[in-house]
Amino acid sequence: MASCNEDFLRLASGYLFPEVARRTRAWQERNPGKSVLRLGIGNTTEALAPSVVSAMKEKLDLLSSRDTYTGYGDEQGDLPLRKALQRHYGRLGISIALDEIFVSDGAKSDAANIQSIFSRSSRIAVQDPAYPVYVDSNVASGHAGDYDESIMGYRSIAYMPSDAANGFVPVPPEERADIVYLCFPNNPTGAVATKEQLKAFVDWALERRSVIVFDAAYSDYIRTPGIPRSIYEIDGAERCAIEISSFSKYAGFTGVRLGWSIVPMALESDNAPTGTFNRLWNRRQCTFFNGASNIAQAGGVAALSDEGRRECMELVGYYLGNADIIRNGLEGAGLACYGGVDSPYVWVRCPDGFSSWEYFDFLLDKASVVVTPGAGFGSRGEGYVRVSAYGHREDIERAVESIRRVYGC
Ligand SMILES: Cc1ncc(COP(=O)(O)O)c(C=O)c1O
Repeated sequence: MASCNEDFLRLASGYLFPEVARRTRAWQERNPGKSVLRLGIGNTTEALAPSVVSAMKEKLDLLSSRDTYTGYGDEQGDLPLRKALQRHYGRLGISIALDEIFVSDGAKSDAANIQSIFSRSSRIAVQDPAYPVYVDSNVASGHAGDYDESIMGYRSIAYMPSDAANGFVPVPPEERADIVYLCFPNNPTGAVATKEQLKAFVDWALERRSVIVFDAAYSDYIRTPGIPRSIYEIDGAERCAIEISSFSKYAGFTGVRLGWSIVPMALESDNAPTGTFNRLWNRRQCTFFNGASNIAQAGGVAALSDEGRRECMELVGYYLGNADIIRNGLEGAGLACYGGVDSPYVWVRCPDGFSSWEYFDFLLDKASVVVTPGAGFGSRGEGYVRVSAYGHREDIERAVESIRRVYGC
């Protein structure tokens, strides 16, 4: 008799974005003829860079002819893309070997799958609030224990509170944690970590023989000088950290799908001498994954060329311009805002004692604007909403104006 994987049943129901969509639909039914202004989901909206488009078209032409057609590529990713990524890290002064790079169909898959190379008894730590996949993937694979309503979290997970008092950058946990997920620039808070703050985590991990999983999906949004773009800018990180990253927010590949992970050869732990985690991740990818789309990879190579980089950074600049408009507009209306400087997300404190979901409903009712309730990212997200800078400029301006009107501006 087949039985289901009961770990999946432990996943807390009501995933954030479906609930946002449900409430938005219900509002639209109640308000026919009114249009909704979306500052919710972190989905890119602007066209791909011209050099990326022509590289993908060129690849398609090659696939159209029998003489130049290619099928499966290396599971680890095509060599030109891994070389381009190696050069990308080289620009940051970081040396990565080609066999330490694993190309994927996006950072979400890697963030969800990476737990599979660690022992089932591993205790994980996450920032609270956090991008939900770190917690949910560990729940579904049996690392998290039962959900406990009283802590709004899972019993076996170590939550690292990220709040206004610590600038949304926690210190390493005192309790045991074997795998620590960090994300900077952070989704949802928009916070970035300094070199010293990341060094504290690296030193802590080296001392405890723990591993950091560093999600750098928004690294190209960093404009403050001196803020690290990669965990490997910190001495010793190659011995204790895996990095996951993405073309989604840098090159607008949210629909094209392309990402990568770095699992250094030097990474080790008590029962895993150097090379082991790299070998296990390689085995995992070769067994469960057949490589990223070759068209997407051609686009990725172009996105990392000098011309592609210039064009993609223009895209990033456009979204950062939107973030400026949001942050300045909402601060001007008297709202307390965080993030939005080195990040496309502005983290807004709900005013007047509103909870996250109450403020979500309030903004929808009064301003026709959809945001994301902070409580959906963890208990410490309660009392905040996330405002996303992904949108056409004119829509962002209309949404910000609409919120400002609610506050008499
Ligand atoms: C922190 C973070 N990591 C990863 C992802 C997913 O990236 P990808 O589109 O490459 O799967 C997102 C998407 O919003 C994200 O916010």
